[in-house]
Amino acid sequence: MLVVVRKDYKDMSKEAAKVVAGLVYEKPNSVLGLATGGTPLGLYKELIRMHQEDGLDFSKVTTFNLDEYIGLPPSHPQSYHYFMRENLFKHINLNDRYIHIPSGMVEVSDINRINRYCEWYEEQMAKAGGLDLQILGIGKNGHIGFNEPGSSLGSRTRIKTLTQSTKDDNARFFDGDVTQIPQYAITMGIGTIMDSHWIMLLASGKNKAKAVKDTVEGPVCARVPASILQMHRKAILIVDEEAASMLSVEYEELAPDLI
Ligand code: PGA
Repeated sequence: MLVVVRKDYKDMSKEAAKVVAGLVYEKPNSVLGLATGGTPLGLYKELIRMHQEDGLDFSKVTTFNLDEYIGLPPSHPQSYHYFMRENLFKHINLNDRYIHIPSGMVEVSDINRINRYCEWYEEQMAKAGGLDLQILGIGKNGHIGFNEPGSSLGSRTRIKTLTQSTKDDNARFFDGDVTQIPQYAITMGIGTIMDSHWIMLLASGKNKAKAVKDTVEGPVCARVPASILQMHRKAILIVDEEAASMLSVEYEELAPDLI
């Protein structure tokens, strides 16, 4: 696992954008796994700038998002459909037909239908040739996507119940009102994420330092889902100094040479 430490959020975001842009330049029809949340916003901003100023071309790129809340329609400002449209898609030249986000409009009571839908989502990834690069944030509890602590390390796309810790963290997006947060989400599984050719996890700020330490230096265990990245052959962590502050060894200062 390559750990790259950058001074602050801005530098972390720029480094991450270089990785994504490098891949898209090298392979214009790349398949990208995308994440939502506060962490990748700076990366998306930089990719938009690269598209607008440097002509970075996304027209042949395919995307698959990690997850979506169940019960929120795409028009809901806290849905991940809305987030992606506002913070990335509407600013770049992705082809709508190549964009995939799990549907939040499935009926929770019909578990067979949800399971079939999740299988379909996995099939679409396989048909696209698999993910070239999965972008990840990390929860304070070590979750990736909505794979909460205790998730099977081999899991595939499925419905998950959100933990209280994740609801508390995400309440800031729902005017601080935890009761507004859906109970369930559809998320790629840990096994799905691990099938990606490259994985790039981003973390910024002191409140992620413990999760980063457990991910990089702790045992590989389902209690810290991100720790599975230790088993991946091409995982890159790009973190800022605050998020790296609990690591016990000095890590790479070199930019990752992705391609
Ligand atoms: P954040 O969320 O980027 O908003 O901190 C990360 C996550 O929960 O995966």
